[in-house]
Amino acid sequence: MSVTVRVPAKVNVQLAVGPARPDGFHDLANVFLAVGLYDEVTASPAETLRITCAGPGADQVPLDRTNLAARAAVALAERYGLAPDVHVHIDKDIPVAGGMAGGSADGAAALVACDALWGTGASRAELLDICAELGSDVPFSLVGGAALGTGRGERLTELKVGGTFHWVFAMAERGLSTPAVFREFDRLGEGAGIPDPVASQAVLDALASGDPGALAVAVSNDLQPAALSLFPELADTLAAGRAAGALAAIVSGSGPTTAFLAGDADAAVVVAGVLRASGTCGAVRVTEGPAVGAVVV
Ligand code: C5P
Repeated sequence: MSVTVRVPAKVNVQLAVGPARPDGFHDLANVFLAVGLYDEVTASPAETLRITCAGPGADQVPLDRTNLAARAAVALAERYGLAPDVHVHIDKDIPVAGGMAGGSADGAAALVACDALWGTGASRAELLDICAELGSDVPFSLVGGAALGTGRGERLTELKVGGTFHWVFAMAERGLSTPAVFREFDRLGEGAGIPDPVASQAVLDALASGDPGALAVAVSNDLQPAALSLFPELADTLAAGRAAGALAAIVSGSGPTTAFLAGDADAAVVVAGVLRASGTCGAVRVTEGPAVGAVVV
C-alpha cells in the first residue's frame, strides 16, 4: 500500500520584508498564490526512513534527513510515538532551489502522505503546526489557493481570488540559496531603516477581483534587488518577458525563477515562446493560479 500526494508550487504576488529579527528571520507580509506546477510525493512502508527523488534537478535534492520530506516524516512519527520507517519518493516538477517553495511543498506533501499511510489522523491544525516548525513556506504549501502569510510567513490568512491568473515561469540555469538572498537583502539595506512589512491593499483587491491588469501594477517583491544583485543576468530574462507583452515581470520569491503575469492564456503562450527563443533562461513553463493545496491523489 502507498499514498501519493500532489502539491503545488507558489509565486509571491507581494513579498514585503522587514528588518532582520533577533532570531535571524525577517517579518514578512507575504501574499502567496499557488500555481499549477506540481510535485508528487509517495509514501510507502519501508524497513527504515528512505528518500528518493526523480525529475529535473533531482540530483540537487538532498536525500538525507535534512530533506524537508524526511523532517516531516520524523516530526509526525515523533508526535505519535511511531518509528519513521517509510520510503518517501518525490517526483519533482517544481524547480529545485528556484524560489517556488519546491522543498516546502515536499515537506507538506510528505506530512499528508505519512498521515494517511500511518492512519495517524492528525487534525488540520496539528498538520499546520508541524508545517510551521518545518519552514516558513510549508503551511502555505499545505493549504494552497491564496493566502497572506505574516510573522516569518507561517501565520496564514486565506484570501479570496476572483478569477484565474495566467503565468509564465522561466527557470534559471542555477539555483539561489534563500538564506543567501536574505543576507544580501540585509547587506543592501544596511543603515537604510527598513520599515515593518504591510500587506498591500491593492494586491488583495486585485486578487479578489481576478483582474490581471490590476494585479500587474500591484505586484512587488522586496527580495528582487537582492536576487538581482546575486544573479544580475535575471534582469535580461525580466526584460525579455516584458518586451514580449507580459503585464508584470518579477523574481519569484527569493529567485532565481522569474514570473510573468499574462493578460490571458493566449498571451501567456506568446510570452513563453519569446522567452524560450531569447536565450536568457532555461526551461519555460506556462500555468495558472490559484491551484489547490496538498491533496491525496
Ligand atoms: O523558514 P525557512 O527554513 O524556509 O527559511 C529558510 C531561510 O530563509 C532561513 O534560514 C532564513 O535565512 C531565511 N528567512 C528569513 N525570514 C523569513 C523566512 C526565511 O530570513 N521570514
